[in-house]
Amino acid sequence: MGNRNIEWWEKIARAYEKVIIRTSFYQDMESELVEKLKGRKRVLDLGCGIGNVLEKFLRENPSSTAVGVELNQSMIDIAEREIISEQNNGRVKLVNGDATKYIDSERFDAVVSSNVLFCLEKPFDLLLNAYNTLLPGGHFVLTSMKEGANLETLMQAATEEIKSSGEFKEKEQYLNTVHSVNSMFKGKANVLTNQRIAEVLTKFYGFRRILHNSDTYLGQNFLVAAERGKDVKLDELDVKVAEGDEIIDTFKIRYHCMKERLGFLEANPLLDNWQMEYDVFDFKAHHVIAVHDGRILSLERYVGDSNIGLPVEKVYDLSPIRKQDTKLCEPGRWVSLPFAPKGAGKAVIKWAYNFLLGAGFTHWVGTVDEEPRVISYYKRMGFPLENPRSLEALGIKRNVYFTCFDLNQGSDFFKKD
Ligand SMILES: C[S@@+](CC[C@H](N)C(=O)[O-])C[C@H]1O[C@@H](n2cnc3c(N)ncnc32)[C@H](O)[C@@H]1O
Repeated sequence: MGNRNIEWWEKIARAYEKVIIRTSFYQDMESELVEKLKGRKRVLDLGCGIGNVLEKFLRENPSSTAVGVELNQSMIDIAEREIISEQNNGRVKLVNGDATKYIDSERFDAVVSSNVLFCLEKPFDLLLNAYNTLLPGGHFVLTSMKEGANLETLMQAATEEIKSSGEFKEKEQYLNTVHSVNSMFKGKANVLTNQRIAEVLTKFYGFRRILHNSDTYLGQNFLVAAERGKDVKLDELDVKVAEGDEIIDTFKIRYHCMKERLGFLEANPLLDNWQMEYDVFDFKAHHVIAVHDGRILSLERYVGDSNIGLPVEKVYDLSPIRKQDTKLCEPGRWVSLPFAPKGAGKAVIKWAYNFLLGAGFTHWVGTVDEEPRVISYYKRMGFPLENPRSLEALGIKRNVYFTCFDLNQGSDFFKKD
């Protein structure tokens, strides 16, 4: 949606002030949001629009301060001229910036974001930024359009309210603007169910627990409040083999990172969830995970030698290294969640190396994506990499290097603790 996004919001800025924030259902939602921010000392609003949520928050919490981040200057102008009152002016900073990237010099004890997530090209970056800008234990209050929302319901309700207030004639043009912007979002909005947003926040973005989860905005939005977990320290990671439900979580994390964040997996209408990331090798795999505060942060799947064959054998002839006394394993996907500390991935790989050695494996074989960052990482770990080969014959549009590593020889990378 990129730049078009800015144009749409440019169009709607005035309509926002004239129509949207005047409706009873918008004001109900705003009250619910502000109620969840009660008593918070320093609040960040990601995509603050014309600043009305912050104005209400500051009015009700006279000793608090706030920062609003907004990409659209017309929205900020309206906020400064018409919404933020003189008495609150000195307690709020409005920044023209990107809500998915904005970092302040200090962290906040609450972050709010209202009706922004659905219109972002990379919605998960906003959740990550909420995590990054919050203090441990801080609260994130989020509302956005939910899956299956019907914007016509909101349009009709707004039209009726305006008609009954006798202001239809002067406000009709603004209603039309809202309608045309809404129709541009049809089929393009990034939407999640209440259940899914709760799962995403707690499983993939470092939120410890969900404090509130309901519908709002005439049932078209979810409203979720979540508490951020503590900061992650590398030496507090518990690295181990996943068991029970932890294994299912590894599939979900792989799916989230590969499909939802990186777009590496094609959509499959029959299997459009984590099951896309689940394959026959998962039965035979060791799922090595790094856990912190009960949450998986980093993982790697290792497919052990077996009679189902290793996936890599579809591309490479392994017969020269398939000797009687050779036990092979192939690493599967290695994934670290975006908020995991630097080094969490290495911790998993090192632990797995020792685990595999202890389990009698002799060789580590696999393919490595031809991507500069990945290549240099593997080189630093001391992996030998052969000339890259195309996987096109397997219907995969990528080139990969082959790597074969004698675990007993090790490399300095693995030997160091
Ligand atoms: C539907 S409005 C919601 C405004 C306000 N939060 C509210 O609830 O009234 C969405 C706002 O998000 C802003 N926006 C969209 N993408 C943004 C981004 N990447 N960074 C900051 N603001 C963004 C738009 O300019 C617009 O003002």
